[in-house]
Amino acid sequence: MNEAIRDLVREQHVRIDELIYPMFVIEGENICSPVDSMPGICQYSTDRMWEELERVREAGIPGILIFGIPDHKDEVGSGAYDENGIIQKAVRLIKKKYPDLLVISDVCLCEYTSHGHCGLVKDGVILNDETLPLLAKTAVSYARAGADIIAPSDMMDLRVAAIRDALDENGFSQIPIMAYSAKFASAYYGPFRDAAHSAPGFGDRKTYQMDPANGREALREVEEDILEGADMIIAKPALAYMDIIKEISQNYNIPIAAYNVSGEYSMVKAAAANGWIDEKKIVMENLTGLKRAGAKMIITYHALDAAKWIREEE
Ligand code: PBG
Ligand code: ZN
Repeated sequence: MNEAIRDLVREQHVRIDELIYPMFVIEGENICSPVDSMPGICQYSTDRMWEELERVREAGIPGILIFGIPDHKDEVGSGAYDENGIIQKAVRLIKKKYPDLLVISDVCLCEYTSHGHCGLVKDGVILNDETLPLLAKTAVSYARAGADIIAPSDMMDLRVAAIRDALDENGFSQIPIMAYSAKFASAYYGPFRDAAHSAPGFGDRKTYQMDPANGREALREVEEDILEGADMIIAKPALAYMDIIKEISQNYNIPIAAYNVSGEYSMVKAAAANGWIDEKKIVMENLTGLKRAGAKMIITYHALDAAKWIREEE
């Protein structure tokens, strides 16, 4: 009958305090470099990241998911676990200025390896077990820098257990793990790989990320990560995989973060720039769909805009 009644019976709400904003920090000075394939998103050097962080604070967004772009890559991704690496430096600075801003550190090697893969490589093959200690070392190093949550995105088997053990042994038993558990080998990550300079130099990620055709396997990945000690899990991409989010939420009692990934963002931005869609309505409809599917948190490049729109509606 009217808006007031619809408000009263509305089942789902997108809340600002459940949004997480991904950010890219890059080595260097005075850099605010727009990512061509992601309109509105920039890579920031640590001296310029404050502009964006201030917007995050003003919007009331509780947390950021932080990715680093180092100035040096090698075979073993040493920039990831260097105590003076880009993430370590950025996190120390951010936590000093904003102690209550949640800093979620993505743990992976692909931004730091010369071959661009998420694990060590020998003769063109990913070395799962040999990669685990490096991921664990990276996670401890980020925790030491002040990260509040550790988010492994590499998709090696048994990495959650390895990271949990290493965190516990180093005095970080209180630091939660938000595991990318249901992560599919997806073309939707294309723009991110421009932003993070992390495209694989050869082959693809199909030997460690999941086949988009496999829903049941995603549940097994989630189950394994929970048993290994994951406190929250990430499902990604989000929009083409809402059934996965729904199934996880119905089968497991664990908070789910839906990652509305780069390609999903770029498609909306491109159509909006052409005047083909109503950006605000499309974004809010997408985010509402993720809540309806069962997501607790939403990681999205739209977070700053969405927070503004949510506030306008209040
Ligand atoms: C790194 C990582 C990727 C994303 C998050 N962490 C890229 C990939 O796995 O290739 C994708 C995020 C996005 O597309 O927004 N492993
Ligand atoms: Zn990776």
